[in-house]
Amino acid sequence: MAIDLAVVPVAGRGTRLLPLTKSQPKEMLPVGRKPVVQYVVEELVRCGISRILFITGPGKTAIENHFDIDMELIQLLREKGQEELLAELAFEREDVEYFYTRQRRQLGLGHAVLCAEPVVGRQPFVVALGDSIIGLNAQSTVVRLMIEQFQARRAAAVVAFEEVPIEDVVHYGIAKPRDSSSEVFELDDLIEKPEVHEAPSTLAVAARYVFGPAIFDHLRRTPPGKGGEIQLTDAIRSLIAEGGKVLGVRLPPEERRFDIGNFESYFRAFVEFALADPQIGKQLRSHLTQLLH
Ligand code: UTP
Repeated sequence: MAIDLAVVPVAGRGTRLLPLTKSQPKEMLPVGRKPVVQYVVEELVRCGISRILFITGPGKTAIENHFDIDMELIQLLREKGQEELLAELAFEREDVEYFYTRQRRQLGLGHAVLCAEPVVGRQPFVVALGDSIIGLNAQSTVVRLMIEQFQARRAAAVVAFEEVPIEDVVHYGIAKPRDSSSEVFELDDLIEKPEVHEAPSTLAVAARYVFGPAIFDHLRRTPPGKGGEIQLTDAIRSLIAEGGKVLGVRLPPEERRFDIGNFESYFRAFVEFALADPQIGKQLRSHLTQLLH
């Protein structure tokens, strides 16, 4: 059976982006012309997903509003003769069904995924973090490859990884691969934020996952870790420890992860997307060149 369901957790507080995120979801921050979460949805649709379950929380209704069909706005644009702007709303008509459930307490990413269980049941599903874009303009099809590998190799989970500089391993979950030379590899373990000298590789978890339903059993048994949060990484480790086959898929260099969770990578992402804008990119480039001289 094809996997067509994705869970998109968007309930986090986004404290690293304060004050920007005090009253607006970080998943709605603009990167170039679109909010982050729209790129995530467009990427998922391109990879064959047709049902999206958002795990939302306090202050996140802007996300629900964004994916509604806004007939009033469409009418207004028609009346004002601004038909050309209707193309900007085409995403509203993607062939997707949206579902929403709430994480009533922000107890971490693992807990957010566990909140999906009553809706997901016992079917396999994708998890895509709502604050990360994969590839410039979300052109990545890695999720499609991950789904294929999940099915072909009867895996319990597939996790996307990105090569990071060695000094950055301290910020991420890092893969301990059985054979790291290939694009797809089996995981021996996953080490959360290792010291540089302890890192088993420089492959960092990159915001996309495919899971079988067993992950829920492991999440339920996962005790809260750092900051009282239930970590998804801990549940994946437990899955591996019990003999579950967990695969890693390496992102190709042209499908980098843009993490909108902190100011440095958010600013970088915005500038890169703005420079790639077909209408404004060229002028922006010459403006920036002037500024830099
Ligand atoms: P982060 O790990 O960046 O956590 O979330 P956060 O709480 O949003 O941000 P900080 O650390 O306070 O700055 C990664 C993704 O998981 C979701 C977030 O909304 C984000 O899309 N998330 C995180 C939840 O849905 N629930 C949580 O309890 C935590």
